[in-house]
Amino acid sequence: MEHAIIAREPGGPEALDWVEWEVHDPDEGEVLVRHSAVGLNFIDTYFRSGLYPWPGEILIPGGEAAGVVEALGPGVEDLQVGDRVAYTTPNGACCTARVMPADRLVKLPDAVSDEVAASVMLKGLTAHYLIHDSYPATDGDTVLVHAAAGGVGLLLGQWLRAKGVRALGTAGGAEKCELACRHGYDLAIDYRARDFIDPVMEATEGLGVDAVYDSVGRDTWRGSLACLKKRGSFVNFGQSSGAIEGFEFADLAKGSFTATRPVLFDFIAATDELRARAGDLFGAIADSTLTPRVGQRWPLAHTAEAHRALEARETTGASVLIP
Ligand SMILES: NC(=O)c1ccc[n+]([C@@H]2O[C@H](COP(=O)([O-])OP(=O)(O)OC[C@H]3O[C@@H](n4cnc5c(N)ncnc54)[C@H](OP(=O)(O)O)[C@@H]3O)[C@@H](O)[C@H]2O)c1
Repeated sequence: MEHAIIAREPGGPEALDWVEWEVHDPDEGEVLVRHSAVGLNFIDTYFRSGLYPWPGEILIPGGEAAGVVEALGPGVEDLQVGDRVAYTTPNGACCTARVMPADRLVKLPDAVSDEVAASVMLKGLTAHYLIHDSYPATDGDTVLVHAAAGGVGLLLGQWLRAKGVRALGTAGGAEKCELACRHGYDLAIDYRARDFIDPVMEATEGLGVDAVYDSVGRDTWRGSLACLKKRGSFVNFGQSSGAIEGFEFADLAKGSFTATRPVLFDFIAATDELRARAGDLFGAIADSTLTPRVGQRWPLAHTAEAHRALEARETTGASVLIP
């Protein structure tokens, strides 16, 4: 019998239970994947709390995982039993084995371990579309990233620096700021100790930044707009402090700003696009442009503890759950 983490009602981490779980055989176009590592993401907490709607009566959280193909359904031709694979989906990954559509899987190159793959499928593909599509940052730009020492944040810092972009970051506490500076950030501001607007304006000689990648939301969005250069871009891709409230379209007129609120799954809906982005991501890991940092590990059965730590801002880099 397999096992899974489930929630029967939305709630806090205590809503999560480790239970026996039955997995069906793969149907047409499907594959059974035995998980070796599952990634933890802030989106898992949005689903668990009920902020994001559930796909059914119960929730299995978990947005990314890696493992080995254990069985193939009819019609699957581009995968074989024994292949190392990884994927990202909105939820459903917190289990020991899972049936997945074959066209949502990517094969893992030798240079990418299962644990690293499980930590970058959601976070790394997010960093990829943010800096290539939401605001395509180019050599010579200066941008601001909030929660710079987090899972997505540490990947963004490294990737931006490699593109010749000057990345300024915010993070909660001196240790997190030091960590961010070791991962590509030119400057990291402890936004729990002081306001971040003045240091950003000083660092840009009063001009402001070309773009802000803001995943914190409620506590930062006003300051993010205040840090933008004329015609700058506000990319809000998350809400770890709570949903943005009070935003008005006219706020963009303060500097002819552009604003977008992107979601990863709209950037990887087509299999070709998913695999092309994953290819870039794995290439960046293989050539050491990115060194993913797995900062915490928990047994999969202890996922509730991992949720508590993530929401209490106790984690740095990525966190991985081991079945
Ligand atoms: N739209 C998309 O496509 C997409 C995809 C992936 C992730 N995301 C978003 O990106 C963000 C980062 O995700 P992640 O999984 O890598 O998480 P993470 O950054 O590792 O963890 C969240 C961080 O947010 C910061 N934070 C600020 N205020 C907070 C508060 N009130 N409560 C909790 N944390 C707070 C904390 O860092 P400090 O202590 O440094 O403040 C915390 O460590 C999340 O908002 C997530 O929803 C969006």
